[in-house]
Amino acid sequence: MLKRHWISLSMIGLLSAAAASASDAGARLDRQLCSVCHGPGGTTSSELFPQLAGQPAPYLIAQMKAFRDKTRSEENAKRFMWGISSRLSDDDIQNLAAFYETQPPVKHGKISDQAKYEAGRDIFTNGHPDKGVPPCMTCHGEKGEGKDTTPRLGGQNETYLKRQLKVFYGNERPAAMAMHEIVKGLSEADIDNIAHYLQAQ
Ligand code: HEC
Ligand code: HEC
Repeated sequence: MLKRHWISLSMIGLLSAAAASASDAGARLDRQLCSVCHGPGGTTSSELFPQLAGQPAPYLIAQMKAFRDKTRSEENAKRFMWGISSRLSDDDIQNLAAFYETQPPVKHGKISDQAKYEAGRDIFTNGHPDKGVPPCMTCHGEKGEGKDTTPRLGGQNETYLKRQLKVFYGNERPAAMAMHEIVKGLSEADIDNIAHYLQAQ
């Protein structure tokens, strides 16, 4: 009994060592290939590039594979992510995801327009019941923290969020089935408000 206990403890030790080395390998790739655009540890002050820090690993894995197999095909995906993702193996993708998931997410907290912020919060929390828009937080989490293959939105760059919500009017992210329906009930002003609210989470 005692011996079995000892064996299972050493197994746990081995497993957490494996997780740490995956994340270390991810950190190396981040420095070599990704931080030039996404910032060190997936945190950037540039509005052009999305924040990756604190994004759930299953979401990151799905997106990197979608760039690599060219199924995520909006203009900036083609321009910036198709080339680099073609150089990543499945192991690289796993390691990068393990690394970014554990990096502390950005906290911008910049509210420059209180009315926009409140209007955005209202849609995020309650949806637009009359237009068939469900509350965003039912899937993305109360603070937009994301879970599994649903992305973190809290702290994400405002211009990136707006751009992606507009991408969902077309069919360049075919995996985002729920989002294609949801954006049909959102106006341009709704999108501005939601993005302003979310970047400040
Ligand atoms: C030359 C700049 C550049 C480099 C280098 C780069 N990226 Fe990107 N990445 C972008 C841009 C721009 C986007 C946003 C694409 C869009 O708006 O459609 C993006 C999007 C992403 C996304 C999707 C984020 C989301 O929220 O859906 C992931 C994941 C990602 N990159 C991971 C990586 C990883 C991992 C590396 C390194 C192997 C990397 N990127 C290197 C510019 C870059
Ligand atoms: C039924 C669940 C669900 C609801 C409700 C939902 N989303 Fe999503 N959303 C998703 C999933 C899943 C994805 C990832 C799609 C993919 O894999 O490409 C996503 C992706 C996104 C993205 C892209 C993020 C990125 O990093 O590229 C944005 C922005 C977004 N959602 C905003 C919203 C907003 C705003 C609302 C409310 C009006 C909302 N979502 C409601 C499930 C949902």
